[in-house]
Amino acid sequence: MNTKNYVLVTGGAGYIGSHTVAELVANGYECVIVDNLSNSSYESVARLQVLTQHQIPFHKVDLVNYNDLDRVFSMYDIDSVIHFAGLKAVGESTQIPLKYYHNNILGTLVLLEVMQAHGVHKLVFSSSATVYGDATRFPNMIPIPEECPTGPINPYGRTKLAIEEILKDLHDSDKKTWNFAILRYFNPIGAHPSGLIGEDPLGIPNNLLPYMAQVAVKRREKLFVFGDDYDSRDGTPIRDYIHVVDLAKGHIAALKYLDEHSQEGLCREWNLGSGHGSTVMEVYDSFCKAVGKKIPFEVVGRRAGDVLNLTAKPDRAALELKWKTQLDVDIACRDLWRWTVGNPFGYEMRGVRSTFFNNDGEYDSRLITVGKGSAFEVSFTNVGATIVDIEVCGQPVVLGFEKESEYLRDDNPYIGATIGRYANRIKNGEFKLDGEVFQLTKNDGSNTNHSAVQSYHKRKFLGPLVRNVDKGIYTVQFLLDDSHTEFPGDVLIKVNYEVNIPKKELLIEYEGILLNGNSTIMNLTNHSYFNLGAFHSESIEGTEIQIHASKQVELTSSSCATGKLIDIPQRFREKITLGPEDPKLDYCFVSRNEIAIDTRKNDLKTMLTAVNSESGLKLVVTGTDPSFQVYTGDFIHNQKYGPRAGFCCEPGRFIDAVNHTHWRNAVILTKDQSYGSKICYKFEF
Ligand code: UD1
Repeated sequence: MNTKNYVLVTGGAGYIGSHTVAELVANGYECVIVDNLSNSSYESVARLQVLTQHQIPFHKVDLVNYNDLDRVFSMYDIDSVIHFAGLKAVGESTQIPLKYYHNNILGTLVLLEVMQAHGVHKLVFSSSATVYGDATRFPNMIPIPEECPTGPINPYGRTKLAIEEILKDLHDSDKKTWNFAILRYFNPIGAHPSGLIGEDPLGIPNNLLPYMAQVAVKRREKLFVFGDDYDSRDGTPIRDYIHVVDLAKGHIAALKYLDEHSQEGLCREWNLGSGHGSTVMEVYDSFCKAVGKKIPFEVVGRRAGDVLNLTAKPDRAALELKWKTQLDVDIACRDLWRWTVGNPFGYEMRGVRSTFFNNDGEYDSRLITVGKGSAFEVSFTNVGATIVDIEVCGQPVVLGFEKESEYLRDDNPYIGATIGRYANRIKNGEFKLDGEVFQLTKNDGSNTNHSAVQSYHKRKFLGPLVRNVDKGIYTVQFLLDDSHTEFPGDVLIKVNYEVNIPKKELLIEYEGILLNGNSTIMNLTNHSYFNLGAFHSESIEGTEIQIHASKQVELTSSSCATGKLIDIPQRFREKITLGPEDPKLDYCFVSRNEIAIDTRKNDLKTMLTAVNSESGLKLVVTGTDPSFQVYTGDFIHNQKYGPRAGFCCEPGRFIDAVNHTHWRNAVILTKDQSYGSKICYKFEF
């Protein structure tokens, strides 16, 4: 069992859930998300990880399934629950009421039963102002206080009220034990200011803001304003719109309140609204201002069930939870627009396919394919921020496995992976930094190669954040919080892949910064094995390579560096046709004399070219780093591939640079710097 104290967030992949998770992490809470993804996307979880730079465990669980939920409660030390999961479309609830009752009510019952079985008694419930129904049926009930009698007018609203009543009954049965905060939301709008997470409604949006956003990006023709004959300032209905980030903060406030009162037990409801009402046309104007132009609209008849005014009296939350809204409708519209421009189709991205990669029932690792169906398709996964596949005009050009478990096996020779924190060899696994001697585990005879036990190739990276940055150009960014290892200092690693489909180019950019400590050592590279042979060729035989260097690093008998550079032999200066066994290459060639820690400003210089005349494929490897290791894969030996199934070209810093004064500055990262480098694989066919 994990020993941290977790907040379990049901429906955490959804709109309000994801924003609340972002706030929870920002406030130092550890979260675990359960969601059945019926109306949400795992993409939001991947983005939350990048946004918060934090691992957020996710489990695909339907709350109505007791055993699945029970399993999650057994895996984590859960302190409290925030319960968002539920169906929420008013119109739909009138069509399929049984599904609403089953999902929302049964889901909550099972959740409460599992909580009880595991001794978890704190819950924040996501309710809605919809439980009040039409508050204008009473005189002087606007703004609406929590004391307003309830009276929902649709099945969705009745499921929310029924759940509130279940919570009250349960609390009544054992008053000192149960702690429930019922939050009645008014109209949540907007998106996270980062533009990374937001609302992504399935099908035609029901709500005002998502509908307007789709009109603004021309997914819909015009906005229909449902009636302008209400008794308001401009004839359109009044609602209390609340920025989703404010709303998310309300949950933190409620959680703290429950903590403070957990000894006496409680069940209490709070309105989460601003106390300020806006008409439909006021919100329309605000959104048009954010977009920078007027979007088309047409006034049509009233929508059934709509009422004149639903504005909150938020005093109780202000007084007791010490919470009130800080953001207004203009800010919400600006943030919504940022999210919409960056994600016109929500979390779905044209040309990108993403599936779970792990077949063992875990859901934290994905297979992302960019350029699906094009002449340049590249796939990645979280373990090692690994390049799983590159296909050029349908032909695979790198080695890769089909399952995550294969990447985790001991006989995986770093296939396609990011290598770090320190690629290549360190003599005797030993180095000195800031006057202290560090000893790493040795995994290569007397030396340490590719960081040994803490090697990145089996580490699970956060994300990725996938973006379509230009026509045919995508970026896929992974993060790794590399803390508490044998290396000095904790670092944050960013691996950014840019897939340029028209150019058939994969550009890799590495960045490393120190999170804790005075300094560390770093050398990052990618360990793809290329095989340019015609369809699934088993050997690199017949491929012709050209090494673009005149010097190489002189090696010791254990493949470490003497510290000297020597001329490369004449036969390696010419094109080399790789034979079935020869030449066996595992050498470090010199690209340029460079000792900067961040080489990203350098030009991409050609290091190696490779051509296979049978397949017609050509590869050019360029990079910004001082050297590159060329390896003909002679030691590959696993269930899928044998020796010389692929060759590598690993740009990086000089071998064992940390132990050689004249190279050392290229690998020492201190607080005020960034580590950086770039590698590019360009293909021609
Ligand atoms: C609805 C739900 C409510 C839910 C809330 C947030 C109903 C009756 N209530 O509230 O239970 O908690 O969403 O998800 O559906 N409008 C237009 N054109 C549109 C859409 C809306 O003019 O295309 C107007 C509506 O008439 C209303 C206002 O915009 O006056 C807000 O509508 P909407 O966003 O759907 O929220 P509510 O109806 O207030």
